[in-house]
Amino acid sequence: MISGLLLLTALFLFSLLALRLLVNYFAAGLQSIPGPVLARFSDLWRFVDACKGHHQQTMSQLHSEYGPVVRVGPKIVSVADPAAVELILGLKANLDKTDSVNPMINAHEGEYLPMLISAKNSKLHARLKRPIAGAYSMSTLLSFENVVNDCSDKLMRRLREEFVDGRGHGRVCPLHEWLHFFTFDFIGRATFGKEFGFMDAGTDINNMIGTLDLQFLYIGTVGSMPWIDRLFLKNPLLLALIKTPNHLVDFTAQRIRHRLEGREKADTGGYDFLSRFLDAQKQHPEVVTDIQLAAYTNTNILAASDTTSTALTAIIMCILQYHDVYEKLQAEIDASNISFPVSYTAAQALPYLDAVIKETLRFFPTTGIDLERTVGASGLVLPTGQSLPPGTIVSMNPWPLHRDRSIFGDDADKFVPERWLRRETESKTAHDERVRNMQRVFLTFGYGPRACLGKHIAYLEIYKLIPILVGNFDLSLAHPDRPLKTWTGVAVKILNLDVHIRERHRDG
Ligand code: HEM
Repeated sequence: MISGLLLLTALFLFSLLALRLLVNYFAAGLQSIPGPVLARFSDLWRFVDACKGHHQQTMSQLHSEYGPVVRVGPKIVSVADPAAVELILGLKANLDKTDSVNPMINAHEGEYLPMLISAKNSKLHARLKRPIAGAYSMSTLLSFENVVNDCSDKLMRRLREEFVDGRGHGRVCPLHEWLHFFTFDFIGRATFGKEFGFMDAGTDINNMIGTLDLQFLYIGTVGSMPWIDRLFLKNPLLLALIKTPNHLVDFTAQRIRHRLEGREKADTGGYDFLSRFLDAQKQHPEVVTDIQLAAYTNTNILAASDTTSTALTAIIMCILQYHDVYEKLQAEIDASNISFPVSYTAAQALPYLDAVIKETLRFFPTTGIDLERTVGASGLVLPTGQSLPPGTIVSMNPWPLHRDRSIFGDDADKFVPERWLRRETESKTAHDERVRNMQRVFLTFGYGPRACLGKHIAYLEIYKLIPILVGNFDLSLAHPDRPLKTWTGVAVKILNLDVHIRERHRDG
């Protein structure tokens, strides 16, 4: 009797599952869009792919196999068409984000942080952004320049101690780790006036970097099947037991508390992000509540450290793999006679440095996950003619778009910084137009109203640090024949940039 009941229940559940998979497969309006068959049945296909850690490569392969519009889930369509960027990510459409952002949301004292980056609704996003957008503007950059100077001085000193001089002489340097220590310490000072202390310690204190790595892994995988998040980190039972599951959130909350109690103060000329957020609280108390303050600061740490260090690592990796580029860059820096620490203005005036940075962020875009949006109530007609019904998730991944031959030419798959420079026979107007065209599909920092707020800060760090490293050191790969190892959570992280560092003795 009991076994009969069990069998019946199993049959019933199995039929429900089969029905669900069939409904997914035949999702209205998406049958004609090509893509892997298994992906039509369930998001499990994408989840498994994300768990393998090379999602951006899968997206590039899918688009070269199926074309610019590919169905990658029951209700998800990936688009790699330059003509569709504005339509999907642009200001005019202002489409909402999707549930894929849920795993980003951290909790503090049992309450979820209303983070800017994970605000799904565009109106809510605009409301949260308005009070603090000015804190990230170009005009605030100057106050952060000294912080980059201090942090880059410290990085150089510590690299010399550990890998160049004395007992450290000749040791192999895991530069990817040290660049991470640098960006983490920088954003700590820029946000709270306090470094995390990674460069001093030369190690990941309290596993804070490890925690962020885990969180990025969680976002990159669970984000492709977001309902799982409710079983894990958003499970009310877990939150009742552990009120702040992520100890980085505890760290940021402690910084705010200590600032309000007068135990810590800003040291970026007295005006760091936290000071700006506190000012915003005075002016917009209805939006910038205490929990919102924690959300803004936590977003800064989440969004700024891993991404910027990944970009820095990719630049060094690319120039070490393309030795002619490395030599040209070093020659430009030497000929410029810039003094160290390099000012942002002086660094931006180096055309080859500028080309190398842009080309790396095109060729090896930091962002490996899909930028997803929800199609609104009136549906969406793509430039290719396909119509997507309301509620479809439409996504763009930077990797296939950044290799688009119609924009970047037949050598789109090669690392060629010269593509950003003016050609001998090219007029200034034609060059400006060509660069504008390339930048229109540049998705490393996202695009449109939800694009990265910290882009200028990231560029400040990158433009200043690369000439300091390349101008002062001779860097070389410690294992030139070893294949590159990467892992994609949110950023496409390089895990084995092991280098030898030798001091250069520049004249003058
Ligand atoms: C190379 C370094 C960086 C990369 C590649 C990067 C990339 C991105 C991307 C792809 C997004 C989301 C776009 C979307 O969802 O459509 C984003 C959002 C964001 N980033 Fe960055 N980022 C970098 C550095 C930074 C830094 C240094 C900061 C802070 C100082 C920062 C703060 C933010 C914030 C606050 C958001 C949310 C913006 C919003 O939703 O309005 N990022 N970033």
